[in-house]
Amino acid sequence: MTTTVELLDALSEQIRSCRLCKLGESRTNAVPGEGGAQAKVMFIGEAPGADEDEQGRPFVGRAGKLLRKLIEHIDLEDGEYFIGNILKCRPPGNRDPEPLEVEACKPWLFAQIAVVKPRVVMPLGRFAMTLLLGPKLQIGKVRGTVIERDGQVFMPTYHPAAILRSPRYQKVIVADFEKLARLILELEP
Ligand code: URA
Repeated sequence: MTTTVELLDALSEQIRSCRLCKLGESRTNAVPGEGGAQAKVMFIGEAPGADEDEQGRPFVGRAGKLLRKLIEHIDLEDGEYFIGNILKCRPPGNRDPEPLEVEACKPWLFAQIAVVKPRVVMPLGRFAMTLLLGPKLQIGKVRGTVIERDGQVFMPTYHPAAILRSPRYQKVIVADFEKLARLILELEP
């Protein structure tokens, strides 16, 4: 029988050679995401930046350091979480993703979520939240709350890069991660 690790690896392989949109021509490396195939939580950002494009790994730049500190703060261990993005390839110059790119790329993320079946998906920032939960929600209003869609539980928060722009975000993001930790325990099967 195929294991979840094999399924997730097979998806990563396909993503690395994806040519479904024009970002496949400009990228250095696609960034499928990484983490446990049976992760309890999936953290989903917007798109790879320069560091991620260079290394083929998600959240390895300045915002990534913050994300990894937040994950450490709530004592999640390797294998208990997955880090990924809506877009798997870097938009040139970090411009905003275009609708066609998002349309082409989002089936990859949905397939990853379907394989991992996390207890919680945490969209990081407005862009990921809008794609996963629809355009009507405002991140400032729903961050740190539990939202259920089609049997999947979500808890959005701000993108950790917000802390780099304004340190006042740190307190709320830390509080949301602490809520996330409690939610993961509550949802223990
Ligand atoms: N920001 C994101 O949204 N994703 C990354 O992988 C890195 C920075």
